[in-house]
Amino acid sequence: MQSFQFKCPTEIIFGCGAELKVGEKIKAYGGTHVYIVYGGGSVIRSGLLARVERTLTESGIAFDVRGGVQPNPLVSHAREGVREALRFGADFILAIGGGSVIDTAKAIAHGVANPETDIWDFWCGRERLTRSTPVAVVLTLAAAGSETSDSAVLTNEETGVKGGINTPFNRPALAFMNPELTYTVPKKQLTAGISDILMHTLERYFTKIQGNELTDLIAEALLRDVIANARVAVRDQHDYDAMSEIMWCGSVSHSNVTEWGRCKDFSCHKLGHAISAKYDATHGETLTSVWGWWAQYVYQDDIPRFARFAEKVWDVHEGTEEERAREGIRRQVAFFKEIGMPCCFTELGIGVLNEATIHELADAVTAGGTKTVGNFHPIGRKEAIDIYTLAN
Ligand code: NZQ
Ligand code: ZN
Repeated sequence: MQSFQFKCPTEIIFGCGAELKVGEKIKAYGGTHVYIVYGGGSVIRSGLLARVERTLTESGIAFDVRGGVQPNPLVSHAREGVREALRFGADFILAIGGGSVIDTAKAIAHGVANPETDIWDFWCGRERLTRSTPVAVVLTLAAAGSETSDSAVLTNEETGVKGGINTPFNRPALAFMNPELTYTVPKKQLTAGISDILMHTLERYFTKIQGNELTDLIAEALLRDVIANARVAVRDQHDYDAMSEIMWCGSVSHSNVTEWGRCKDFSCHKLGHAISAKYDATHGETLTSVWGWWAQYVYQDDIPRFARFAEKVWDVHEGTEEERAREGIRRQVAFFKEIGMPCCFTELGIGVLNEATIHELADAVTAGGTKTVGNFHPIGRKEAIDIYTLAN
C-alpha cells in the first residue's frame, strides 16, 4: 500500500428535499452573500432555482445569480463570473447543476479569493492556489463527482486546451443531493454520467500499485452497484432507489476513496479531454469511445489484474487467465453498448479521423510528445496515436 493522505471535508445533505436546507446550512457556515451559478436553464424550468432562492431569502442571505454555463465549461465565462461575484461581494459560491456548473463555481471561488490572479494561471500551473472561497453544491446530475472531488475541469477556448487541477481547495464545503432532482436529466446525459462514474473507479483500479485489498473490494462493489442500478435507471429514471445508488456512487467514485493507497491513472480521461476540447464532445462519451481500445492495448501489462476485474465485477470464472482478462474487457464494453454509449469515434459522431487529426490529438494529450500520461501503461505520443487509431 502506498502512503497517502485523505481528507474529504464536504458535508453531504442527501435525500428528498435536501435543497430546502440550502439557506439554513449556508447561514450556519457564515455565508451572507451567495453568488449562484447555473447552466443552460434546466434549473429554471424545473423550478429548482426559485426553490433554492426562497430558502436563501428566508435565511436572510443576499444573493446574485449567473446562468449560462455550458457543458465543457469555458474559462472566459468563469472569468466574467469572478468579476461579477467580486462586485457583489460574494462570500459563498453556490453551484446548482452538474459538473460543468460546479467546476465553474470552483473557478469563480478561486478567483474571488485571489482577485489579482487570472484564474487560468492556476490551471496551467503558473500560480499555486493557497486559498479559496467556500462552495456549496445542489447536484442535479450524477456524473462528474465534482460535488466531492478535489478536481475542477475547464476549457480555454483561446488555446483549445481542456484541463483540470487537483487541489484540496476544490473540495466543496456543502453538497445537497436529492436524487429526485436527477429524474429530468436527458437520457444521453444519464448514461454518459453513469459511464463517467464507472470510469472514475476504473481509472483508479488499473494502476501499477497493488496490495490494497480494502480499496479493491470497495472499487469492485461500487462498479457492480453502478452497473446493476444503471440497468434499472435506463428503464425507469424515476426509480428513487436506483437513482440514489447511482448518485451516491458518483460522489464516492471521485472522492478518492477508490484511490486509497494507490494513485490515479486517468489516461483515458486525458485522451477524452483532447477530444472534448476539439469537438465539444460529451465527457462520458469520449471516455467510453476509448476505454475498450485502451484496455485492449494495455491489458498484457498485467493480465492477473484484468482477470481479477473480470471475476469480481463480471463473474467470469471460465477459461485461462488471459481469456478471462479479455472476457472482462469484452463484457465492460458490451455494457457500455447496452446502455447506448459510443465505443468508437464513428459512434461518438466525430467520423473517421485522418492521420493529421490523430497526431494533433496525441500532441494535445502529451504536450507535443514531451510528457506521458497515466502510469499503468504510460501513454506517450506514440501510444496515444496507437489508441486513437484503434478507436477510429
Ligand atoms: O445546463 P443545464 O440546462 O442545467 O443542462 C445540463 C447540461 O446540458 C443538463 N442537466 C443537468 N442536470 C439536469 C440537466 N437537464 C435536465 N435535468 C437535470 N436535472 O445536463 C447537461 C450536462 O451537464 P454537465 O454539467 O456538463 O454534465 P456533467 O455533470 O457530466 O459534467 C461534465 C463536466 O465535468 C467535467 C467534464 O470534463 C465536463 O466538463 N468533469 C469534472 C470533474 C471534476 N470536477 O471532478 C471530473 C470529471 O472527470 C470530469 O472531467
Ligand atoms: Zn470523468
